[in-house]
Amino acid sequence: MLGIFSMEPVRFPEGFLWGSATAGHQIEGDNVNSSCWHKELREHCPEPSGKACNFLKLWQRDLAMLSDLKHQVFRMSIEWSRIEPAEGLRNENALKYYLSVFEELKKRNIKLCLTLHHFSHPQWFEEKGEFSRRENLGYFLKHVEYLAPIVAPYVDFWNIFNEFNNFDDPKLYDRKANMLVAHAKAFAIIRNVSAAPVSSAHAMTPYQPQHPDDAFDITMARIKNWAVNDFFYHAIRTGEILFPYRKGEMIEGLKDSCDFWSINYYTRHFVSARDEKGEAQRYKSCQIRPIEQPFYLEEFYPQGFTDGLCALKDRPIYITENGFCCKDDRLRILYLGRNLQALSEAMERGCDIRGYFYWSLMDNYEWWSFVPRFGMVGVDFQTFERTLKPSAQFFREIIENNGFDRELMLKYLPEFKDWQIFPVQD
Ligand code: BGC
Repeated sequence: MLGIFSMEPVRFPEGFLWGSATAGHQIEGDNVNSSCWHKELREHCPEPSGKACNFLKLWQRDLAMLSDLKHQVFRMSIEWSRIEPAEGLRNENALKYYLSVFEELKKRNIKLCLTLHHFSHPQWFEEKGEFSRRENLGYFLKHVEYLAPIVAPYVDFWNIFNEFNNFDDPKLYDRKANMLVAHAKAFAIIRNVSAAPVSSAHAMTPYQPQHPDDAFDITMARIKNWAVNDFFYHAIRTGEILFPYRKGEMIEGLKDSCDFWSINYYTRHFVSARDEKGEAQRYKSCQIRPIEQPFYLEEFYPQGFTDGLCALKDRPIYITENGFCCKDDRLRILYLGRNLQALSEAMERGCDIRGYFYWSLMDNYEWWSFVPRFGMVGVDFQTFERTLKPSAQFFREIIENNGFDRELMLKYLPEFKDWQIFPVQD
C-alpha cells in the first residue's frame, strides 16, 4: 500500500483539471417543488433541507470563493423542479438564476460540469412513478430538449445523471435499465447542440467478499459488482442492458454514449453470502494515529480507487466526486493525499485521468441530515457564514503546484512528522 510520509513527490500532467463538486438540493435551499423536499415533509425528516447552504442567495460569494481557492472547474446540478415546477409550466426566473451563475463562472474562467439530474426531480414527476416506469422517460427527455440548447454555450462537461447505478437491490434493475435508456436518448439530444463531452456520473463501488476464500462470498460479490458497477460499463461499451434474471436488451444509441467515464469514488463494501441482504459489515472506523477519532468514520481504501480506475482504460476519466466526511479536517487532508497518490498510480498504469473534483466544496445537506461534513469549507447553518478549513488551503496549494510532496503534507500535518503513516483498522 502507498505510504504518505515516505512518498515520492506526486505530479500531475499539465492541463489536469482541479475543482469541486456540489448538487442543487444539497446547497441551494428552498427546493420546494422537488421530490426530495416533499419526502422530507412527508416522512417528517428531523432535519429537512430548508435553506441548505443558501447558495440560492449567496452564489456570488461562493463563486468568488472558488476563484480564491483557484478551482478551475465547478460541478453543480440544475434542479429540474425549479425549471418545471408543474408539468409543462416553465419558470423563466429560475432559468435566469442558473444562467447568471453560469455567466459568472465563465467570467471567472471556471469550467462548468453540469449535472441534469442529481437524485432530485419535480414532485409531479415523482407522483407519476418517476424513472421506475419506462413510459415516463419522455417527460425527462422533453426537459432536456428544452434546456440543452439554452445552457449548451456554458457547459464544458455534461453529467446527465448522477449515480443511478448505486445499490444492488434487484428491485432497482428496471429503474436502472430505464435510466440507461434515458441516458442514451439524452446523450443524442445533447450531442445535437453541444460538442462538450457527455457522461453520467458513476458511483464506483467495489464489492469484496468478506471471506476472500469462500466461493459463495466470491460469487455474490461478483453479482453485486455486476449489478452496481459492471452493468453500466458493459452497457456503454456494447449497447446491451444486462442484469441477472432479466431479459437482455439491446438499446439503440446506448453504445458509446459516454465520451468519458465520470467516476465518483468513496470506499468499498463487503459481501457475505450468509446474510439475508448479502452484506457484511464495513470497516466502521479507521483509527489513524495520532488523530483520535471519536465518531464513526468510513474506511480509507485508496487501493480500490486505483484498481477500479485501471479497469477503465478505454476512455478518458474525470473524477467527478471523491471526498471524506469527518469533523477533524486533518483526516480530510490525509484522505486527499492518499487518494491523489492512488490516482497518480492509476495514471502511471495507463489510465487517462484528466481531472479531480473534490466532494464537496462546502459542508452541505447530506440528504437527511446536516451532521455529516464533507466540505473543505465549513458552513454555519444558522448564519450561513463560510469558513475555510485547512484542507481548502492544502487543496489550493496542490492546484497551484499541480501536485504535492511530503513537505506539503507535513506542513498541514506536522504531528505526523515521526510517523510512517499506516491506517490501523479496528
Ligand atoms: C452523492 C452525493 C453525496 C455524497 C456523499 C455521493 O454518492 O452523489 O450527493 O452527498 O455521495 O455521501
